[in-house]
Amino acid sequence: SAEPAPPYVTSNKTSFAYISAKDRWPIIVTGAIDDVHRAIVACDDDAKRKEGKTILEGLAKLKYELQHDRQLTPLEDDGQPGIAEYNKQLEALGNPKWFDVPWLYSECYLYRRIATFFTPSTYWRTYDVFSRQKLSTFKSSRPAVLELAAKYSALIAQLENDAYLAQTPEDLEKAEQILFTEMCEICLWGNATDLSLLTSLTYEDIQKLQGSEARKKAEKNILVNDLPAAYGVLIKAKKAGKRERRLDIVLDNAGFELFVDLILAGYLLAAGLATQIVLHPKSIPWFVSDVLPADFAALLSALADPQSFYSAPDDPDTGKHPQPLSANEEEDLYLLFRHWSELQAEGQLIIRPNIFWTSADSYWQLPKAEPRLYEDLKESELMIFKGDLNYRKLTADAMWETTTPFTTAIGPMGAGSGVRTLALRTCKADTVVGLPEGEDERLKAMEGGGGGEDGPRKWAWSGKWAVVQFCDGKA
Ligand code: F6P
Ligand code: MG
Repeated sequence: SAEPAPPYVTSNKTSFAYISAKDRWPIIVTGAIDDVHRAIVACDDDAKRKEGKTILEGLAKLKYELQHDRQLTPLEDDGQPGIAEYNKQLEALGNPKWFDVPWLYSECYLYRRIATFFTPSTYWRTYDVFSRQKLSTFKSSRPAVLELAAKYSALIAQLENDAYLAQTPEDLEKAEQILFTEMCEICLWGNATDLSLLTSLTYEDIQKLQGSEARKKAEKNILVNDLPAAYGVLIKAKKAGKRERRLDIVLDNAGFELFVDLILAGYLLAAGLATQIVLHPKSIPWFVSDVLPADFAALLSALADPQSFYSAPDDPDTGKHPQPLSANEEEDLYLLFRHWSELQAEGQLIIRPNIFWTSADSYWQLPKAEPRLYEDLKESELMIFKGDLNYRKLTADAMWETTTPFTTAIGPMGAGSGVRTLALRTCKADTVVGLPEGEDERLKAMEGGGGGEDGPRKWAWSGKWAVVQFCDGKA
């Protein structure tokens, strides 16, 4: 059909939309206030401090309006693209209040509004209020980073190993498919660590989610797994001898998730399943932990000199130092740096920002709202959309029946769109589609947070369950 189902709204008390507006967003804005405050205290430039205080006022006002259910005010023009569109949509929604507004719009508005406090300033123009958090969580995922770095160098070596290559073509293809599956699943679960949910997830939880043992166990938590179909199109294009085969990743979070995205990208290139990878980051600080171009640079420079990255004090207050890296660990990480910077230098790994990714539009609007981007995406063999927000945008964050086919729920990005979509999504919001009959009921009935019969879809909020869904819009 031409219209999606009605969207989730913050007035819906049994949805995560309501809990987000009530509990999560105030915590996130408070975190931003604390961060700017710390930056002001550490700064000895009067003019910068003064601007910082104006920014604090803006943040405090936003928090007040949110907590007192005021109207969303039109965004002030910060000289950056996208403001007019946000305000037009706000008007079309009838200038709603915080607790009666579509979830997707209001959450995007929140981050766009925060950006308007910083961008017009002189000293804080490019300041990322979430950067501190992003870096420290990446640091705390050290055990998983080291495990994967070791595995990656072994894997790349294996792809060139004689014994490996001497297998029959059938066995080789089977081995490749297994590796592909594992790499994609690593990449999928890397998304369970986004920081906007950290209000409910501890660092220990994160570490548990990241190890390889945890991943095997987690396979049963992938409710729909279309990886074989996605592998099918890549191997087919390879066998057809197509020389240029581009694959895109619409990125989600920085830190550990970006790290595993790059592991996947490097693997796909090394295995010849793609010849070029295009990465799509955000242009303003977004949903706390999303990747900005600067996060990519920061990750590479951490890997370029891993010993100093990891030996900086854990805790600036106690000055406690973590264990130094062993020589092998250091080497594995440095190898990643070398490999990824080479790929970038050779144009096989490309970062391509677009303002559309930080608009409030769902991807139902993409073909009309951003025709040039749409044309560009059609060039790709496969578009991988990472994470929860991308999934909400693909499905218009709508109240679909959970049995709605994925192809239907993504509307204009579905059949006949010319775009091949693969969503790697750990569920952190109510919208879920493409489930078998009875599955939602089964999950709701589970003990310990399913949500209960006829209750909220609580099981889908925590990142414990995932869906991997594919639609061939080129077929
Ligand atoms: O539902 C919780 C939430 O934080 C939403 O704000 C957002 O859709 C999502 O999770 C962010 O997660 P991700 O980083 O996976 O897009
Ligand atoms: Mg995110």
